[in-house]
Amino acid sequence: MPAPETNRKLIASLFAIIFVGLAIYVQSAFDSQLREFLRAQLGGMAAQADTIANVVRLVLFGLLAFFVVRAFAFLIFGIGYRFRRGYEAPSLIRNVFSIVAFTGLFLLIFTFVFPAVNLGALFTTSALFGVILGLALQDTLGNFFSGISLQADRPFQVGDVITVGITQITGVVEEITWRAIKIRTFQNHIVVVSNSTAAKESIEVCSRDTLNARLIFFNTLYTDSPAKTIHAVREAVRDADNVSQKITPIVRIRNLGDNGPDYEVKYWLEDYAKYNDTDALVRQRIWYAFRRAGLNFAYPTRTLFVDRSAKQGIREGVDEAIIERLTAVDVFEPLSSEETAMLAHAAAVHVFAPEETVIHAGEPGSSMFVIHRGKVSVQVNDNGRPRTVATLTEGAFFGEMALFTGEPRSANIVADEETEVLEIGHDAMKHVFETNPALVESLSHIIAERRQALTDSEAAETLGSNEPAGILSAIKRFFKLK
Ligand code: CMP
Repeated sequence: MPAPETNRKLIASLFAIIFVGLAIYVQSAFDSQLREFLRAQLGGMAAQADTIANVVRLVLFGLLAFFVVRAFAFLIFGIGYRFRRGYEAPSLIRNVFSIVAFTGLFLLIFTFVFPAVNLGALFTTSALFGVILGLALQDTLGNFFSGISLQADRPFQVGDVITVGITQITGVVEEITWRAIKIRTFQNHIVVVSNSTAAKESIEVCSRDTLNARLIFFNTLYTDSPAKTIHAVREAVRDADNVSQKITPIVRIRNLGDNGPDYEVKYWLEDYAKYNDTDALVRQRIWYAFRRAGLNFAYPTRTLFVDRSAKQGIREGVDEAIIERLTAVDVFEPLSSEETAMLAHAAAVHVFAPEETVIHAGEPGSSMFVIHRGKVSVQVNDNGRPRTVATLTEGAFFGEMALFTGEPRSANIVADEETEVLEIGHDAMKHVFETNPALVESLSHIIAERRQALTDSEAAETLGSNEPAGILSAIKRFFKLK
């Protein structure tokens, strides 16, 4: 019940108390005159006249008790509860209090007005009446006691969003009375679920005091990068209105579907009762994020791929960007443009997800890699824990040590973000080595420097000489160069 309505009802009850109080005062002041008047009217039947006067008194005191109890109930369970807890007590509690307090007061007044009547006898002789009444009120009492057990359990409160049983009625709990739960659905309809039905059904409760999550689904094409999609969607959703700032939304692939990867966004709401609007806003944000990041929603498609390349990863034509990338690698500076184009042609392009391992330390390797896009960490094993010795970005290369010396890989290479690498194999390098002795020499210096940085790691034991001259001769030996 909204606060102004409670206040209005409390004030109305106070006025009623004053009014009934005045009526009692008038009745007491003119009590003897009233009795005499009644006796005169009833022809001297003093007993009946007294009974009528006492019934008038009982009714007036009964009314006073009723309004006093009502005022107390509004004061304690409306205003007092709201003041302490921020919301009003369920009307069921208020009703139980009112019934018990009023019955107690009424019995007191009754014994005071009719001291001669034995109430105990009255109750025992009315046992049959009680049975009839009990049968007639079976459903009502069932609801009443179910309501009490629901209140004792307190699985939900006014303001929580609940979904009731197989009928799947969802809405905000507006009131819990002695008979039923009133739910306001998101179409602004009121659904009344009787307490006895609610007690039998399973009820999903989304409490307003805790953060509740929602799932939103979307999909992309298989050509769209998961890392890029996840980043773009998470950033777009996290600052949407009513999305909780306390927990970062989770974006993840839930299925590899027919038309593309299926994703879900899990986000937490500040106010769960507004989830329809927030879901819609989140979907809207996803659309805009897709637009900005150049991502595509998947729709039912059938794509026919004609694979003309002999080997996986090697393309027919060479991307200009790859030639540009290899030209910018400083160790490849001595190469002619034809040789760089040949390397570009032989290079295979691979993409790695964030935190994916590109190279495992200790494994054999017969290729080197140039970073085309992204960033990697060079990690060595330090007492069972990975230690980063270097971070390499676009244009840097790695994997040359094992390729040129034939030794096992000296370190782990782990992608820090989505990373695209160009892999160049042994045969392509042998060809350029034969015509570029300067290249072999500069590589031997770089390998020497890198090995130096690894000397205090566990891998150092398996590595050869740290001297450029030693490395140079090892490379020549391995590649059978003169
Ligand atoms: P390789 O031994 O084939 O595999 C691991 C690679 O990590 C290695 O070749 C180098 O390319 C690279 N690497 C090792 N140590 C360093 C370092 N100190 N700085 C940069 N890169 C390194």
